[in-house]
Amino acid sequence: AKKTEMGEKLVTIFIDGREVQVPDGVTILEACKMEKIHIPTLCYMEGLSSWGGCRICVVEVEGQPNLVASCVTPVREGMKIRTVSKKVREARKTNLELLLSNHPLDCQLCDRNGSCELQELAYEFGVREIRFQGERKTYEVDQSSPSVKRDANRCILCGRCVRTCAEVQTVFAIDFANRSFDTIISPSLGLPLGQSVCVNCGQCILSCPTGALSEVSHIEMVWDAIEDPDKFVILQTAPAIRVS
Ligand code: FES
Repeated sequence: AKKTEMGEKLVTIFIDGREVQVPDGVTILEACKMEKIHIPTLCYMEGLSSWGGCRICVVEVEGQPNLVASCVTPVREGMKIRTVSKKVREARKTNLELLLSNHPLDCQLCDRNGSCELQELAYEFGVREIRFQGERKTYEVDQSSPSVKRDANRCILCGRCVRTCAEVQTVFAIDFANRSFDTIISPSLGLPLGQSVCVNCGQCILSCPTGALSEVSHIEMVWDAIEDPDKFVILQTAPAIRVS
């Protein structure tokens, strides 16, 4: 069998009809990245474990009755993959619409307007209306932390923040809680973030694809503190305010 320079075994696969050789054991998504083939993703993030939750990255694999999530499906010898087909595009778009059906559509008011991965995908897939109407979650915005604002209404449950907090920072301040429609990412016991073991590192903000986690505006905090002197205590624990 062929091997890479590092001694890894290579397998031959076919992506959109093109024969390529990739290291054995990589996922379809990783193989496509190596071949510069774009596959949209949401819950996948380089450097974190993958769990295949959002199903935006689905592809067709010959012989498989259902589409597979490319971020969690390893390649195997002779695999024939289709990354662009009507079926694939429709499934990705439907999954996206389902996420948007339970997401606020007030992008203009969101901190991440213009840098939101969900918004970018909606443009990419030409989503102009939401076909699925139904109950929407409504949570109070958690502003208890001196550094992280948590708006669960904007959360798409990709879990990137949970994995960043656990796998990169080893803090374990947040996790999935509840089930089904009530699933939420929250500190344990449903406590506000400000009362959790969060260390205010802000890494979860960087991994969040939407406006669910964002930086606390220190200007707003200063105004709050002026109105309520008790809040100066919180201000002293907040990261330094940059004055430019
Ligand atoms: Fe693969 Fe979310 S990116 S399932």
